[in-house]
Formats: sequence, C-alpha cells, structure tokens
Amino acid sequence: MARISYVNGQYLPHHEAAVHVEDRGYQFADGIYEYIAFYNHTLLDGDAHLKRLERSLGELRIPMPVSIRAMHVIIRQLIARNSRIDGGLYIQVTRGVARRDHPFPRNTKPALVMTVCAAKTPKEHEVKDGVKVITAPDIRWGRCDIKSISLLANVLAKQAAGEKHTREAWLVGDDRTVTEGAVSNAYIISKEGELVTHPLDEHVLGGITRDVVLRLARKAGITVAERSFNTVEVKNAREAFITSTSANVLPVIKVDDKLIGNGKPGPITRQLQELYRTYVFKQTGRML
Ligand code: PDD
Repeated sequence: MARISYVNGQYLPHHEAAVHVEDRGYQFADGIYEYIAFYNHTLLDGDAHLKRLERSLGELRIPMPVSIRAMHVIIRQLIARNSRIDGGLYIQVTRGVARRDHPFPRNTKPALVMTVCAAKTPKEHEVKDGVKVITAPDIRWGRCDIKSISLLANVLAKQAAGEKHTREAWLVGDDRTVTEGAVSNAYIISKEGELVTHPLDEHVLGGITRDVVLRLARKAGITVAERSFNTVEVKNAREAFITSTSANVLPVIKVDDKLIGNGKPGPITRQLQELYRTYVFKQTGRML
C-alpha cells in the first residue's frame, strides 16, 4: 500500500516527504503536534484535537498554517490517498524555515506536515490483563499543557520503561506527585474508591481521551477527583489505569515493584474500558 504524506501543500510518497534543515522544528523543536486516531475513515474526536492544536499554536504565538476547515479537507484527502480504513494521523506544525537565530523570525510561514500510520491500538493481552509501569523523575519543562514536539524527556522516560519491559513511565515531581505518563494520562482509584487524576494545569497535557473518560465516569456516577496524587497513594490504590489516543483505557496492574490491588484489572477500570469502547463505536462504527 502506497504511503502518502502531506508537506506544505504537497501530497508526496512518504520516502520523498522532507523538510528543510533550517526548519525551526529541527533546529529548536519550535513546534507542536497532534496524534488523532481514525476508524472507518472517521477521525475520533477530530474537533477536540484540532482545537487543542489551535490552542498549542496560540500559546507559542505560531499562526495557524491553514484554517481549521482547510485542515479538515487536507486530512480527508490524505486518509483517502493512504487507503487505510483504520489508522493514526500525525499533524505537525512548526514556526517554519528561517536562518538559525533564537528569536522568532519575521515573515516566516509556519510549516505543516501530516503523516498517516497504522492504528496504534494496544495488544489484546494488555487490554485484558493490564500493563506494568515504572516511575521516573519528571524532568520536563514547565509548559506540559502545550503539545510541543520537544519530547526529549518523554523519550528518555519511555526508553527507561522499555528497558524494564514495562509499557509506560509515570513521571514523578520533586514532591512525589505523579503528573502523568510519558505518553499518556495517569489515574488511580484511591483507597476511598474515588477516581483520581492530576488536575489540568501546566504540569500535564489535557488529554482528549482524559476529557472523554472523565465525562463518561461522571455520567456513570463514579466520583471523580481532579487533584494531584503521590507515589504513596499509588501503592495503596485499589486500581490504576492510563488513557491516551493510542492506549485507549489500559489497566495498570504494577507500578515499579508494587502490585496494584490484587494485580488484576479492577472493576471501575473495566467499566471505563467498556464505556469507552461503546463511545468509540458510536462515533466511528468500530468496536475496538
Ligand atoms: N500521547 N500526556 C502525554 C504526555 C501525551 O503524550 C499524551 C498523548 C497524552 C494523552 O493525550 P490524548 O488522550 O489526547 O492522546 C497525555 C500520544 C499522542 C499517544 O500515545 O496517543
């Protein structure tokens, strides 16, 4: 199957898709991205992702490269040209190409790149039996609410997780607060039975899946507390899980050396997995 990518107005064979060496994304990680899943050619929560993209750009004072409407047209074209029914779409916007100098260049057009890849759904055994995570120091910058392409700290944490044969790394601040995962949001069901996740602030990315799952949880009568939790609370938690566009809702059964609950996915996590599956089905017609 031919893989086609979009680069600044052109649809190109993926192996020919390239940006200039003086693109500020390459030089300074001066840009942002989004990852959107699609099923049956339909974007899952496309509007929410594009709204977050617009917000990330606004925070960095990078102009929108094209309108949201035009972006929808490009996305539809690109998905059709890649002839994939289910998959993932990366959208990346940088401040553009300019002579290397730290301050914003003048009269530079932002660069827009989109690529399509195979759907990144979790493995069946991960969905059923849950996954292990490690903890790692949160060494990221102070604006994690922006979906920046500057991901070096996340790369290092995810590498450490892989080396320990675990799925994810939970990032921990100096005060032992768990902020989020290297590539996902983090949750526990506390001893008291409430669903706890870090509040939306500059320490975490406002996950689109997070938003949906919290809405579904509240609707189902689950008590939700958007407050920080620390590694001590994790050890005493009844359940734990992660969410992201590629993980959906994934039970966490072990954090470092400590089993969570009885080491099996808990009932609230199971309930949320089912609610999310139904949510995706209703929107895209695909049963995950
Ligand atoms: N991860 N936090 C971080 C640091 C992330 O990179 C992501 C997304 C999330 C979850 O956001 P969302 O629910 O909008 O995908 C939280 C990538 C893109 C992924 O694995 O899907």
